[in-house]
Amino acid sequence: MAGQPAEYRKGEFVISTDRARLDLDLIHGYLTKCYWAKGIPRDVVARSIENSLCFGLYWDEKQIGFARVISDYATYAYIGDVFVLDSHCGRGLGKWLMECIMAHPLLQGLRRWGLVTRDAHGLYAQSGFTPLSAPERHMERHNPSVYEHARDRKNP
Ligand SMILES: CC(C)(COP(=O)(O)OP(=O)(O)OC[C@H]1O[C@@H](n2cnc3c(N)ncnc32)[C@H](O)[C@@H]1OP(=O)(O)O)[C@@H](O)C(=O)NCCC(=O)NCCS
Repeated sequence: MAGQPAEYRKGEFVISTDRARLDLDLIHGYLTKCYWAKGIPRDVVARSIENSLCFGLYWDEKQIGFARVISDYATYAYIGDVFVLDSHCGRGLGKWLMECIMAHPLLQGLRRWGLVTRDAHGLYAQSGFTPLSAPERHMERHNPSVYEHARDRKNP
């Protein structure tokens, strides 16, 4: 469903939705150490990429950032695994990544967007995200230690 890859340019930076350009080593290397997906196996990252609309951020042909969107392309989208490498943080690239996501043609007219963040609320607020208006209506089934269990199963 992802259609033709989209590409956005800003000076020396490029954002592309072309999955073939993504650097799986870099993405897995980042995610497996980050606070929300610590220990995630490489094959799980690969499968998540395969089944998402992915946005790679590039400088000088090298990947320096990432975000992915899980969506039915009709009513709902969830944004996850957003990062910009430390070396390029604080220059407006995270905001631009969010702007490109929100402007993508396949993601227009949706009834609801979702995401989860520990401390980047200010970033997402600039793209129209707010705290849950009715948290009592939302439920989750969260398994934060799922990758520890996967590792234990592999190395009993
Ligand atoms: C969050 C992240 C993607 C932002 O990317 P960035 O390129 O550094 O961000 P930008 O330079 O575009 O600026 C982000 C804006 O959001 C604000 N912001 C709020 N919370 C923030 C946070 N936790 N981290 C970075 N920026 C934050 C910044 O102050 C800035 O606002 P401003 O325009 O008023 O100055 C990047 O810092 C990152 O990868 N952090 C580590 C991974 C992470 O936490 N990802 C988000 C998971 S939900």
